[in-house]
Amino acid sequence: MLFPKWTNALPTVLAAAGMGGAVTTVGVVWYYFTPKFWEAGYMPDQPGAGFNHQIHAGKLGIDCRYCHTKVEESPEANVPNVATCYGCHAETLLDSTLPAEQKVGFVREAWKNDASIEWRRIHKLPDYVRNFPHHVHVKAGVSCYSCHGQIMGMPEVFQSQPLSMGWCLECHRNPAPALVPPDHVTQLVWVEQELKERAKGGGSVDGKALLESIRRAPPENCGACHH
Ligand code: HEC
Ligand code: HEC
Ligand code: HEC
Ligand code: HEC
Ligand code: HEC
Repeated sequence: MLFPKWTNALPTVLAAAGMGGAVTTVGVVWYYFTPKFWEAGYMPDQPGAGFNHQIHAGKLGIDCRYCHTKVEESPEANVPNVATCYGCHAETLLDSTLPAEQKVGFVREAWKNDASIEWRRIHKLPDYVRNFPHHVHVKAGVSCYSCHGQIMGMPEVFQSQPLSMGWCLECHRNPAPALVPPDHVTQLVWVEQELKERAKGGGSVDGKALLESIRRAPPENCGACHH
């Protein structure tokens, strides 16, 4: 069900919506056709022993950008290549705090064969959402936490947010409660506390003040995300 047939009809649906049927059309299509694949909670099995964010990003404190190198520059985020892992998991490194062959053998095997590890994609917008500039959000001070949840506490990443149109728009209409200083976006533990306190009327940073420093108001018109 990756590319359901109904997506072919989308241009027509969008055109009809433009002529005034927006609410009902969107409502009906939404209700019937949102595939399971995109639902919150999605957590596919990963290759080898997998990759544990709770250990690497949480316990060891490795910054997200050490591996997700393009999050501030590219409209598409990236996952790291084997070389990034091998840098710490080569057989020649004998530090006793490093895991044994049985756990990281799959990393060494991939490196030896010049192969990549086939990580299974978790967050994926449907193709008809043609514009989701990942970097614009990160640079504006929307934390990974707001869209991916508390990754630092996840032994296995799962989709924590619906990624639905309503979810995008809810923030676009009122982004202030989610904004943090852009140099804090990867400090997920701080962000979680800050946003929870802010929701109760506290917090140490004023989201409304940060709103003035973003480039422009987030879009709500159909064409901004669908073309
Ligand atoms: C040492 C490298 C490394 C670090 C540090 C790291 N990640 Fe990852 N991340 C990965 C790898 C490898 C994957 C692919 C495997 C998986 O999904 O678990 C991944 C997957 C993800 C995904 C899911 C991507 C998808 O398929 O949709 C998200 C979201 C993510 N990371 C966010 C973060 C955040 C936020 C941080 C910082 C708190 C972080 N990562 C730190 C290596 C890293
Ligand atoms: C900066 C160094 C560093 C990088 C980069 C790194 N790791 Fe690790 N990794 C570690 C250390 C240290 C441990 C052991 C931590 C512990 O057990 O407390 C570990 C543990 C592991 C484990 C064992 C987890 C468990 O359940 O005990 C696996 C599997 C693993 N890493 C895979 C990877 C993969 C895949 C990548 C690349 C996406 C990667 N690592 C990148 C340092 C690193
Ligand atoms: C405004 C919401 C939002 C923010 C903020 C955000 N992401 Fe994402 N991220 C997404 C969505 C949505 C996708 C799926 C995009 C797609 O399918 O085109 C995604 C995809 C990813 C992927 C998968 C890329 C791939 O090729 O497999 C990674 C990794 C990732 N994000 C990491 C991060 C990290 C790290 C941060 C913080 C520095 C972050 N994201 C901030 C919404 C967000
Ligand atoms: C938690 C808040 C938040 C969520 C969730 C969010 N956005 Fe945004 N988005 C923003 C902010 C803030 C901006 C304005 C950034 C700027 O221009 O500096 C923005 C801007 C944009 C832009 C305009 C980019 C540009 O270059 O002007 C697009 C397109 C967009 N978002 C698409 C999406 C889509 C699609 C989703 C859902 C998958 C989404 N956003 C979810 C906060 C959010
Ligand atoms: C901020 C970005 C954004 C804007 C603005 C936006 N959409 Fe969407 N739209 C999305 C996303 C993301 C999805 C995918 C939802 C999903 O997978 O559940 C979507 C899905 C849809 C769908 C498919 C139904 C579904 O949910 O599966 C239709 C039809 C649609 N949008 C029409 C519109 C119309 C008409 C407008 C203008 C009134 C509009 N969109 C404005 C982001 C946006």
